[in-house]
Amino acid sequence: MKGLILSGGKGTRLRPLTYTRAKQLLPLANKPVLFYAIEALLDAGISQIGIIVGDTHAEIEAAVGTPEEVAARWGESVAITFIPQLAPLGLAQAVQTARDFIGRDRFVMYLGDNLISEPLRPLVTEFAAEDCPYHCRILLAEVPDPTQFGVAEVEAVAIRADFSDALTPLRVKRLVEKPKIPPSNLALVGVYFFDQSIFLAADSIVPSPRGELEITDAIQWLLDHHYEVHAQQLHGYWIDTGKQADILDANRQILQQLTPSTDPTATISADSTLHGVVVLQAGARVENSVIRGPAIIGEGAIIRNAYVGPFTSIYHDARIEGSEVEYSIVLEHSSIVDVHGRVEESLIGRYAEVTNSPIKPRGHKLMLGDHSRVGLIP
Ligand code: DAU
Repeated sequence: MKGLILSGGKGTRLRPLTYTRAKQLLPLANKPVLFYAIEALLDAGISQIGIIVGDTHAEIEAAVGTPEEVAARWGESVAITFIPQLAPLGLAQAVQTARDFIGRDRFVMYLGDNLISEPLRPLVTEFAAEDCPYHCRILLAEVPDPTQFGVAEVEAVAIRADFSDALTPLRVKRLVEKPKIPPSNLALVGVYFFDQSIFLAADSIVPSPRGELEITDAIQWLLDHHYEVHAQQLHGYWIDTGKQADILDANRQILQQLTPSTDPTATISADSTLHGVVVLQAGARVENSVIRGPAIIGEGAIIRNAYVGPFTSIYHDARIEGSEVEYSIVLEHSSIVDVHGRVEESLIGRYAEVTNSPIKPRGHKLMLGDHSRVGLIP
């Protein structure tokens, strides 16, 4: 089995943060979303991973690292291959682009901006078996607004008694991409299991009205041509971080799973207090401050005369001074200094500076792009 992570495309929904950065590199709990996808595949025993890259290839490649860096981070047996896709012409076109890399293997395709809590290993083991009775497996999850996703019309059936217990098996009747009138509230999760039949399907469909070769249409082609497509409903969390509103919530979910740790090079002054689950990464400095977890403070970050509240990620080399921050993500090299009133529910890009300003009305709800500056009430 191989893994294929899709990390091309454009992050238009996350602008301005993704004007200057690939959306798959936005950090949750101080780790790029893409790394969660890589690690989900590795945890399932898949160590040959292809990553589809587009315009942002240089940044993605730099973040993942050289083969030596990959080996140091994830292990000697891990091989990551970057596969350029010339234009973001759809998920099924990305599959076609990966044809040589996949060869005759079966594979798990994982969208590089998706995150699921379900461990993939049982599903991978089942799909890798010689006698696996199906050609494709999709995962579904209930969502409040299905119009933003691929949506499945299903009927519940017990297809095989030995399916993984945590997931409900379903029979798929029809799939439709971003329907105006959804046939159900079950969205296609961005993790798919395919055998060779998906190449035939991708070669047989035509681009959708939005000009993309849709993976949803390719799977519908499999259904129409009597290939076995199995579907299961996820009950853990699933987050499509490409949909802006989810970023802070995704960060919250990931932070909840952390275990407390303090790097030996991090420092905490005697007049500081840490409550709950707090992770201090290398060189982080906490001075005369209160941190209430779950929270993570990145490498070289400074928390001085400040309060950092639950569900907050402060990324590398950021500085929170004389201010209060809660339920927020602050990216690298940004600063929040002497701000009156709490900064909350905020997503602050790289190199942003937040300081005082006398302008009314009061209230701090921020979404700042990289290199932004904002003035807040004194
Ligand atoms: O997140 C789940 C949804 O993902 C599914 O419910 C939909 O059926 C599926 O079409 C997809 O919809 P999105 O509109 O969210 O896909 P997006 O354009 O955001 O692309 C998903 C990932 O794939 C993202 O990391 C970018 C990458 N990508 C996208 C395209 C169109 C590529 O690598 N190449 C591409 O050509």
